[in-house]
Amino acid sequence: MDFSLSEEHVMIRDAAREFAQNELLPGVIERDEKQHFPKELIKKMGDMGFLGMMAPTEFGGGGMDTISYVLVMEELSKIDASASVIVSVNNSLVNYGLSQYGTQAQKEKYLSQLTTGEKLGAFCLSEPEAGSDATSQKTTAIDKGDHYILNGTKNWITNGGSADYYLVIAQTDKDKKHRGINAFIVEKGWEGFEIGPKEQKLGIRGSDTHSLIFNDVKVPKENRIGEDGFGFKFAMKTLSGGRIGIAAQALGIAAGAYELARDYSKVRKAFGTEICNHQAIAFKLADMDVSIEAARHLVMKAAWDKDQGNNYDISSARAKLYASQVAMDVSVEAVQVHGGNGFVKEYHVERLMRDAKITQIYEGTSEIQKIVISRGLLDSK
Ligand code: CAA
Repeated sequence: MDFSLSEEHVMIRDAAREFAQNELLPGVIERDEKQHFPKELIKKMGDMGFLGMMAPTEFGGGGMDTISYVLVMEELSKIDASASVIVSVNNSLVNYGLSQYGTQAQKEKYLSQLTTGEKLGAFCLSEPEAGSDATSQKTTAIDKGDHYILNGTKNWITNGGSADYYLVIAQTDKDKKHRGINAFIVEKGWEGFEIGPKEQKLGIRGSDTHSLIFNDVKVPKENRIGEDGFGFKFAMKTLSGGRIGIAAQALGIAAGAYELARDYSKVRKAFGTEICNHQAIAFKLADMDVSIEAARHLVMKAAWDKDQGNNYDISSARAKLYASQVAMDVSVEAVQVHGGNGFVKEYHVERLMRDAKITQIYEGTSEIQKIVISRGLLDSK
């Protein structure tokens, strides 16, 4: 076994760390307050190659491995989880889905713009009544020969207002249940496609979350991804990789909160000494460190499984389940270490604590991860 990072991995991680410090840290509090993530920052992340990391180079991607991707996700998430969710959705849900299952024409038309940041993607599975129970799709895509007619509403869509291309999951044949579901590429601006109101959120407030409404939207047949009825499997396969990205995001939130708490404890004095000299604080730091290191190993193992071509359904669910709990626990403790200052925006930890919560919810709640893990364990016996 070899736990060391390659020289290339270290370079990519350091580039992301520097980018996060120089480009994401300035203005992060204001973006959280105003619920706004500027287009220029998306362009800068595209220029850095962060929006097309694992996609094939022939379509403008970086052709990198999943380890590189999780290193970048961790570094960006230490500073700004609103930025990292944009990176995660674009890479693991949209680009991966198109790279893996799209036609040559779909890749040429859509993927090559999504990998560079020229265009942004969104993944539209959740609905008002189909969150965890994702097979209960109410959005319909009726087959009309050379096109489909799409009707329905999608909820809580990351990049919902700012994306250009949307991967939309919809039911074509209700009788076939999940085997009658399809996935489509839909472009912003098509007649009947409306962007709903922006959600007012607890955390990742810089990311742009909307509901989407489809009213008789005409989708050409060539925009269906995969064979007829492949849509649900497409969503599940894509989400397995997405969960590695969100696990890395959770890891980054935890690591960022820990670093702030550690540094603060070395300068804040109480009872005549720096607070890190009190065992009550030192032991908190030790507990944080152990859980972060354990989460990092699970995240890396899931990324490694994907890179090796192993099945990663269980390892990605394990990583997300555990890392998201660590993000919650560590960020709450980091606020505690900061005392009164932890409750104040300029110290950053209260934002990390609010951002942590979503990692237990999106791309499959913690309860869904336990379903995936337990079913996988029982099936393999
Ligand atoms: N790979 C391939 N196929 C899979 C699969 C996988 N990982 N997991 C399930 N399937 C297939 C099954 O084999 C089955 O197909 P067949 O019958 O043809 O064999 C089909 O999918 C249905 O599977 P189940 O019977 O297991 O379905 P279920 O309804 O019992 O539960 C579930 C499935 C795992 C709970 C699933 O519904 C699920 O993952 N729910 C959570 C959805 C989710 O993660 N939503 C996140 C929204 S996206 C988001 O958050 C993005 C963002 O913006 C940040």
